[in-house]
Amino acid sequence: MEGELEKATVIHLREVSSTNDEVLRLRGSVPLPFFVRADVQRAGRGRMGREWISDLGGLWMSGLLERRHPRDNYKMMLGGALAVARVVEREASIRPEVHFPNDVMVGGKKLAGILVEERDGLLIVGVGLNVNQAEPPLPTATTLRLITGRTYAMDVMADRLAAEILRMHSLPFGEVFALWKGNLATLGRYVVLSMANGRTLRGRLLDITEDMLLLMEGGVSVPAEHVLNVRRL
Ligand code: BTN
Repeated sequence: MEGELEKATVIHLREVSSTNDEVLRLRGSVPLPFFVRADVQRAGRGRMGREWISDLGGLWMSGLLERRHPRDNYKMMLGGALAVARVVEREASIRPEVHFPNDVMVGGKKLAGILVEERDGLLIVGVGLNVNQAEPPLPTATTLRLITGRTYAMDVMADRLAAEILRMHSLPFGEVFALWKGNLATLGRYVVLSMANGRTLRGRLLDITEDMLLLMEGGVSVPAEHVLNVRRL
């Protein structure tokens, strides 16, 4: 997994509505793959239609990539979290936890999230990483600065993250899935699943299949698309 990382094109803008929309706007004028990062997003969005607070100090970045296989959406959802975890480990010397499906957490608080969208046969991989903010965007979130007491050069973080995302994109689904599962903090644990419909489900998470089914103790299986997040009980 080490070795040379591909140098990616990262366009830096000051303010956009959402970098996930901005990459689509620029499609055709920049060769694929490419990334856009913005200092501020006016309308950053998270999974399942939630707002993503995107003030100055965070890394808000999206990549526009070819979608080569139906499983690429899930691959990049999981691979995006692994890419963030690798960059954080390297740049900040801390080991974050990966929680289903792609939350990157430290000390029980959310450091980063990934939103993968698909448009016209292309994949948009959007990453929100809380980096230099002196205050957490939400009480349930944290930032690298709060954890380590340092601030970080955003260009370095962005280049590294883009390269790690491209590396994940170059791997087969099975390999990314195995890496992700090996990093998952909640496997075998008693967890609470927060569902998209607002309900919660508690129990032991026995396994997650390559078809993205969460197998709970007692024979219940839950499709990944119904699950907002998984937290340890
Ligand atoms: C989540 O955990 O719900 C996913 C959050 C994804 C946020 C990023 S920030 C860059 C990109 N642009 C957006 O509007 N969203 C993603």
